[in-house]
Amino acid sequence: MVESTGRRLLLGVTGGIAAYKAAELVRLLLKEQFHVEVAMTAAACGFVTPATFQALSGHPVWTDMWDARAGNAMAHIELSRDKDALLVAPASADFLAKLAHGLADDLLSTLCLARDCPLLVAPAMNRQMWEHPATQRNIALLRQDSVQILGPDSGDQACGETGFGRMLEPEELAGAVAAFLRPKPLQGVRVLVTAGPTFEAIDAVRGVTNRSSGKMGFAVARAAQEAGAEVTMVAGPVAQPTPSGVTRVDVVSAREMLDAVMQRIGQCDMFIGVAAVSDYGVAQAREQKIKKTDQNLNLELIPNPDILAEVAGLPNPPFCVGFAAESENLLEFAEAKRRRKKLPLLAANLVQHAVGAEESELILLDDGGSRVLPKAPKTEQARRLLVHAAQLYSTRMQRKGKS
Ligand code: CTP
Repeated sequence: MVESTGRRLLLGVTGGIAAYKAAELVRLLLKEQFHVEVAMTAAACGFVTPATFQALSGHPVWTDMWDARAGNAMAHIELSRDKDALLVAPASADFLAKLAHGLADDLLSTLCLARDCPLLVAPAMNRQMWEHPATQRNIALLRQDSVQILGPDSGDQACGETGFGRMLEPEELAGAVAAFLRPKPLQGVRVLVTAGPTFEAIDAVRGVTNRSSGKMGFAVARAAQEAGAEVTMVAGPVAQPTPSGVTRVDVVSAREMLDAVMQRIGQCDMFIGVAAVSDYGVAQAREQKIKKTDQNLNLELIPNPDILAEVAGLPNPPFCVGFAAESENLLEFAEAKRRRKKLPLLAANLVQHAVGAEESELILLDDGGSRVLPKAPKTEQARRLLVHAAQLYSTRMQRKGKS
């Protein structure tokens, strides 16, 4: 068992069939470097045994208010004192009702009331219980009390019905908790991101595009949101789910992307161009489908606007971050691109490693030189990039404040 040195979490498990998923959740939270201790209600022990959670978390499980292991027999207070957050997953309708009204008649509900750290809950119940006005009232009360509500999701339920009430999947919960506890260096900063490919129409059904998956752009938008930014993403045609909390504007062509960006650029502090914008558009796209003949067909392509360069060239530009995909001479070409486009920060990678892959290696170039972000999943690279961008942004803001 790897004991983490990171953040400390108390996981509360209440009585519901989704309790079995909380076991997987513990495993994933440990992978996210959390120290996890588990407290269970009596009903939860009817679904999964404490031994399961003890084996997975590597710590004794708490079920009893009068547990003598806690100093002064004050388990209900002590257990939450050294924690960074308390997560209840699954949170049953009954438990949410107790929380909303400040009831404290067992260890977990008392811990929630006596805590001095943030509380996150992952509701899990039958669809009608979730939709019931009483539950919805309780959820509204909990939101007023700054409790973070994670989910629920919709889908098939253990009772055979379909609808809202399913607990979020453990992967999503672990990610949400990690994101919630991450530092927020971009709190209050408005970030505009372009993502995905563009599609330049040739005729009614055909077009010029590229193989960009949108993964990096969406990861950047998510990482910015996690870092506390207010994020808008202008996305080309790509099938990626919108990160929660991000405002998404869908566009097709480079010109549409430019228009969508320029409409919003006045209200943004940081612009991150991740989109693989088509450098050329079709001179005269046909409205109707082109019929085939036995003649050669020539397509005239005309240059598209360079969105990033236009934004960076504005009289009062936001802090601009660019990407560069090169197939050779990576450092030299990328630095030339950064200077040409007047960018304070550019993330460069080799195109052979970039398209469609889950992982990437990035080189960050700024006025202070270059640094390598060793190969890692794009989600992680996006977070590292945003940490660096936030540092440069804040230094720039401090300088502006002084001048
Ligand atoms: N970009 C843009 N609009 C374009 C082309 C590129 O906003 N029409 C942005 C991309 O989002 C990326 C950066 O510019 O952040 C670099 O794109 P890239 O295609 O690698 O570079 P180019 O400037 O197009 O140069 P080249 O194709 O010659 O490498």
